[in-house]
Amino acid sequence: MPPRHDGQSFIVMANRLPVDRCRDSWHTAPGGLVSALAPIVKAESGAWIGWPGTCDETIEPFSADGMHLFPIPLSCAEHRQYYEGFSNSVLWPLYHDLIVAPQYRRDWWRTYEAVNARFAQAAIETAAYGATIWIHDYQLQLVPRMIRSQRRDVRIGFFNHIPFPPVGLVGQLPWREAVLDGLLGADVIGFQRESDVRNFRDASQRFLGIDPDRVSNVIDAYPISVDVDAIREAAESDSVARLSRQIRHDLGSPEVLMLGIDRLDYTKGIPQRLRAFEELLEDGVLAPETTMLTQVAVPSREGIGAYQDLRDEVERLVGRINGRFGTLERGVVQYFHQSYSFEATIASYLAADVLLVTSLRDGMNLVAKEFVTARQERGGALVLSEFAGAADELDRAVIVNPHDISGLKNGIREAAKLTGDDAHDQMAAMAGTVEDHDVHQWAQSFLNDLQNPVNAGLPFLKI
Ligand code: F6P
Repeated sequence: MPPRHDGQSFIVMANRLPVDRCRDSWHTAPGGLVSALAPIVKAESGAWIGWPGTCDETIEPFSADGMHLFPIPLSCAEHRQYYEGFSNSVLWPLYHDLIVAPQYRRDWWRTYEAVNARFAQAAIETAAYGATIWIHDYQLQLVPRMIRSQRRDVRIGFFNHIPFPPVGLVGQLPWREAVLDGLLGADVIGFQRESDVRNFRDASQRFLGIDPDRVSNVIDAYPISVDVDAIREAAESDSVARLSRQIRHDLGSPEVLMLGIDRLDYTKGIPQRLRAFEELLEDGVLAPETTMLTQVAVPSREGIGAYQDLRDEVERLVGRINGRFGTLERGVVQYFHQSYSFEATIASYLAADVLLVTSLRDGMNLVAKEFVTARQERGGALVLSEFAGAADELDRAVIVNPHDISGLKNGIREAAKLTGDDAHDQMAAMAGTVEDHDVHQWAQSFLNDLQNPVNAGLPFLKI
């Protein structure tokens, strides 16, 4: 297909559009990816290709908030097979170290291919000559090659927001060659951690026989980050400060307030965290009269059995802990199965003393970066899993292995005691690290490598 002269010169592609529909109007959706990319798309007067969030509905391209939006329709069956099925019941568990078993269903794979082809076709038809196309995440891994096979004129970038697994796990995937080849259609392939880069290079070598040192693709780590200015502005505002004081007061002003905020996902290690907390109460290390844990579990992927099972397990554990250690006046675990506004989330970071991030595997974990950014000079402690990408940069946190409940208990106990200058220095140092590498810097460094190939590395073979 010949490139269009009136096409889009900057295109972002992601599973979801960056807007949510509220009755008849569209509003910018919350979330890190959108806050990072929407300003760039707007500044470039660019386009975003994604699923609008409803099934069996065709929506014509439209503009909202200064972005050209191209909705990709999904039938309800495709949503089940491509999104709940292949993306979130095969790739998601496989890429997160098999915390639950993937179901390698061929019908799901066929639908994944078909939906990826639909996304690719939209970009092929929409992109101007020489356009920059930036594709995001594991739901769209076949799209780079599909676009490349018809459009040699465009620059294609792919960024994987979740981990890329070791070669031994990739090997399980019956369609591993197609997925790896799909990704290698991109000029720049970005991952969160150096270990993800190594895993991808090893897998390309093993399953495609490619020498990753002799390809023209740039394969590198670009750790994603948060919008530091927006978080600080909220953290400094009177309304958020008031709300944070209110939260703490309404909880009965505990001496130590611990916090967990996660999508309700089995990768986040919420049961491990609750068990460690329960044992610390049991051992008398934490006192139920003076300690409290607030656990926010944001509803997620509720159509999938493993997520329903996790919800049951978490709610059972919360009930058990409150049954054992709560009083008529107050529980020791405050559990919320809801999502909160950006302001309320920042207020809860300010209200808490300790944030618990106990992921069993996590691409990055932006909650950890948000917490240290909001707290800055306010002290407090971060308990951070070594299996979250954020641990590479936030090495002044209390680093834990969430599979080791005794070690996790020690980490939580240490964090609960962290007060005074040490805590302030550590928090301020971590906030400084995030400030130096914020989300805008992340996007710029990826796009520099994508748009200035000469800076990014020497071209060898064109795959
Ligand atoms: O980073 C992983 C990811 O799946 C993103 O692609 C997505 O924006 C986010 O988590 C939330 O997932 P979902 O869109 O499945 O609710």
